[in-house]
Amino acid sequence: MGSNARKGSTAVALEDVGRTYQLAEPVHAVDGVSLELENGSFTAVMGPSGSGKSTLMNLIGCLDTPTAGGIEIGGNPVANLSNAERARLRGTEIGFVFQTFNLMPRLTAAENVSLPLVFHDDVDQDRRERARELLERVGLGDRLDHVPSELSGGQRQRVALARALVNEPTLVLADEPTGNLDTDTEAEIMDLLVELNEAGTTLLVVTHERTVAEYADHVVHLLDGHLEDIEHLGSARDVTVPGDAIDEGTSESGDASESSDASEPGDASTGTESAP
Ligand SMILES: Nc1ncnc2c1ncn2[C@@H]1O[C@H](COP(=O)(O)OP(=O)(O)OP(=O)(O)O)[C@@H](O)[C@H]1O
Ligand SMILES: [Mg+2]
Repeated sequence: MGSNARKGSTAVALEDVGRTYQLAEPVHAVDGVSLELENGSFTAVMGPSGSGKSTLMNLIGCLDTPTAGGIEIGGNPVANLSNAERARLRGTEIGFVFQTFNLMPRLTAAENVSLPLVFHDDVDQDRRERARELLERVGLGDRLDHVPSELSGGQRQRVALARALVNEPTLVLADEPTGNLDTDTEAEIMDLLVELNEAGTTLLVVTHERTVAEYADHVVHLLDGHLEDIEHLGSARDVTVPGDAIDEGTSESGDASESSDASEPGDASTGTESAP
């Protein structure tokens, strides 16, 4: 799993991606978004409610199909995949944390976390062990046998995060993963995400919180379905990549598709090309 993930290569590429909902009035939820995520990068997505953040995540997570443009994951155009191949990609390479959790109400925390392991040949005992380890990491080691209705909102959210991580995905897409958490739990969850990112996992995290966005190396700002701006943070958190301090907090407008070579934290100084 994830053996083709190479630092410096492109994990996700969006080329002029659009998603229009055909209602009485068409809704352009995502409109002309071009974006590249390097393997091992950490990108935050911010924008007002309704700006297209969840729609964008669903498109990248292969849960929805663009009505315009194309998406490549690991260099492969998603549009060319069969439904079975797409399901397998979702199941093995992508960990998705939904804004609405989507936990199975009748299953316990441990069973919910074990669900994605259907893609593995592990026996039940191994699955239970992996689920327990993950739930301990998110601070829920004492809630293994609770069903979602017996958990608080923040606890459910952490079960959803553990479930997203159980297959050791190379790409984690998290829609407001700290939206229901207190400041301390938020920091713990972000530490866990940063740890995964430092181990090479590519992260895309939607958030309304500036404090959360500042863990990322880039912040993508959406407005009315458009990519408004990509902000390069590079050294905002404590990473020890040489050259990291250059151009701290640079913000640029322009064509996101041009920014892929600026996605390494140490390369923030190159992120100045592409005037609109
Ligand atoms: N299934 C749908 N049918 C029609 N319109 C939709 C559908 N899903 C989303 N939209 C519309 O698309 C736009 C973007 O929605 P989206 O859920 O992506 O926003 P968001 O940025 O995630 O907002 P929030 O911060 O509130 O979660 C909104 O105007 C929304 O009303
Ligand atoms: Mg949303």
